[in-house]
Amino acid sequence: MTAIMDYEIFKQKVKIKVGLDLGSYKEQQMRRRINQLMQRYNISAYAEFLELLDKDPSILKHFTDYLTINTSQFFRDPAVYQALETELLPNVLKKGEPVKIWSAGCSIGAEPYSIAILLQEKAPGGNWRIMATDFDLSILAKAKAGIYPDNTLSNVPQRFRQRHFTEQDGNFILDERTKSLIQFKQQNLLTDRFEPNCDIILCRNVFIYFTVETQDALITRFTQSLKPDGYFIIGCSEMISDPARFRLRKVRPAIYQKIS
Ligand SMILES: C[S@@+](CC[C@H](N)C(=O)[O-])C[C@H]1O[C@@H](n2cnc3c(N)ncnc32)[C@H](O)[C@@H]1O
Repeated sequence: MTAIMDYEIFKQKVKIKVGLDLGSYKEQQMRRRINQLMQRYNISAYAEFLELLDKDPSILKHFTDYLTINTSQFFRDPAVYQALETELLPNVLKKGEPVKIWSAGCSIGAEPYSIAILLQEKAPGGNWRIMATDFDLSILAKAKAGIYPDNTLSNVPQRFRQRHFTEQDGNFILDERTKSLIQFKQQNLLTDRFEPNCDIILCRNVFIYFTVETQDALITRFTQSLKPDGYFIIGCSEMISDPARFRLRKVRPAIYQKIS
């Protein structure tokens, strides 16, 4: 059997076993990553790797964690958070209506928690809620635990560090109040329902891994989930070409607004 056919079968089995359609992810990049992981287990054939995934739940978990690339940080790309603090959040809050923010592909929770930190200062007790979703259940458990290594906090302004984190054994523990402000939920962006009526959606450093067709389909669905004038924020190394075809206009680097 050729390696390409092997990979086709591997994709089908992974879809059944893990619930992720690898066909929606950039193939070259995904295959390179999977091959690297197989090498670590000293395996060269996909069929053999599938057998191992069947036999050993800890390797299956390692494989799922590895596929979903969880790198994240609080206040990642400070210019984006500066724009949120000074422009986007004030704009959505001043409408005087309930505000809904969705962090899609939230990983360890650093992204939704950063927004909760800003909102507690801007609109304490205000009528806002933050939803945070990810496919990976084990990363959602980490997000809910709220315990972080120092390197995830390097962009956190000093005043927020002091107010919201306690250092313990070299880690930083987020305060219970901030933790209680996020509703975490497992969700597969490729198959599950989207949150409707959002004021701001962040889907950052998630769709760089998807094929262009999947990215376009997701952007269409994200735009449908935004209220008129709502904001859509992507990662700083991502881009939307010709945003008008999705009824979006670019307002800042990585920040788009729905054309109403
Ligand atoms: C690199 S992290 C980005 C975290 C955060 N948004 C940030 O920019 O710091 C990418 C996240 O996307 C999630 N992800 C990948 N594929 C997904 C899918 N199909 N549905 C939902 N989440 C997915 C991964 O589990 C991972 O936690």
